[in-house]
Amino acid sequence: MKILVTGGAGYIGSHTCVELLNKGHEVVIIDNLDNSSEKSIQRIAMITGKNPVFIKGDIRDEACLNSIFDNNKIDYVIHFAGLKAVGESVEQPVKYYDNNLYGTLSLLKCMSAHGVKKIVFSSSATVYGTPEKLPLDENCPVGGTTNPYGTSKYFQEIMLKDLYVSDKEWTVVLLRYFNPVGAHASGLIGEDPKGIPNNLTPYIARVAIGQYKEVNVFGNDYNTPDGTGVRDYIHVVDLARGHLAAIEKIDKSGVYVYNLGTGVGYSVLDVIHAFEKACGHEIAYVIKPRRAGDIASCYADASKALKELGWRAEFGIEEMCSSLWNWQKKNPNGYNS
Ligand code: NAD
Ligand code: UFG
Repeated sequence: MKILVTGGAGYIGSHTCVELLNKGHEVVIIDNLDNSSEKSIQRIAMITGKNPVFIKGDIRDEACLNSIFDNNKIDYVIHFAGLKAVGESVEQPVKYYDNNLYGTLSLLKCMSAHGVKKIVFSSSATVYGTPEKLPLDENCPVGGTTNPYGTSKYFQEIMLKDLYVSDKEWTVVLLRYFNPVGAHASGLIGEDPKGIPNNLTPYIARVAIGQYKEVNVFGNDYNTPDGTGVRDYIHVVDLARGHLAAIEKIDKSGVYVYNLGTGVGYSVLDVIHAFEKACGHEIAYVIKPRRAGDIASCYADASKALKELGWRAEFGIEEMCSSLWNWQKKNPNGYNS
């Protein structure tokens, strides 16, 4: 198949492109490089021995998108492009709604105009808001999001569902990711956050390499086994393969929703200790107050993806940490190393 990957230069997109190319699919990437580097495209080619088509462009630019659809017979779109920093979205909601909502509307308009009606969308466990029960399954209520980033994901899910209601030829796959971590085994591609990382594992990796003194553990008074927040961390390569499973399994029209997680929750301290094993030395940490907006625990019931897509996460916390450490060591300053 020929797949248009929006945001394909980014963290999850680049890993997905590798899996797609390795399975013999053709890949066309559009990315404005707002949060990524063109080097990731070269690295995708180094890993796979194949060159994806790369267009530096913004998905809000309909002329650019239309020319891509005019020049390529696209079978499926995997839509990663979007802004994702929770804190920044609270400070700059208009920027987030403009990029994420308008970007998706523009994409859907151009897809419709070209009769391309199959899309996989990067959604997030954040759409569940504060979980009513755990593990979270796909029937748990959504909405009640606590920041513009999360709300934009929720709105985009609604837009895509409405589209299907209006035209039953659409195939809409909503993949709700839990916490993607780790890197490709080659150490050539990985997560490259700009500035101080907001997320736990890239921060730990920078402490491990000596860039920061200690990990700030946001709260140890949650109702969890050790008091620190529990999340369902999923290896980015497993996540990437979840997209492959979706496009290869689903060709009938409809709306499909899947959690992509491991089903296992690890606390902040569990992750720090797993990373210590991966890097071979102790990692200093300090307990800080809770971070605003955080929930105690979040983990998936991922059985629907296994049943319907034949997909399950293969890698455990050890591989997540060792692959991240490998990427961090080889690229201490990310793609600018
Ligand atoms: P990322 O920032 O590494 O990748 C997103 C890519 O999209 C970047 O390369 C960026 O330059 C590009 N982009 C952004 N706006 C664009 C636009 N208007 N036009 C063209 N390109 C644009 O982020 P990621 O972690 O790879 O996330 C990919 C998707 O998965 C995002 O939609 C994100 O919200 C979603 N997601 C991520 C996580 C996570 O924790 N990483 C969790 C749940 C969902
Ligand atoms: N944490 C720390 N110290 C840090 C960073 C995080 O203790 O420096 C803790 C948090 O309090 C939380 C856990 O580590 O308990 C995980 O935090 P992350 O910021 O890594 O991830 P979140 O679960 O908050 O959110 C992530 C993405 C969201 C996405 C969500 C679900 O940032 O965009 O996973 O997929 F929606």
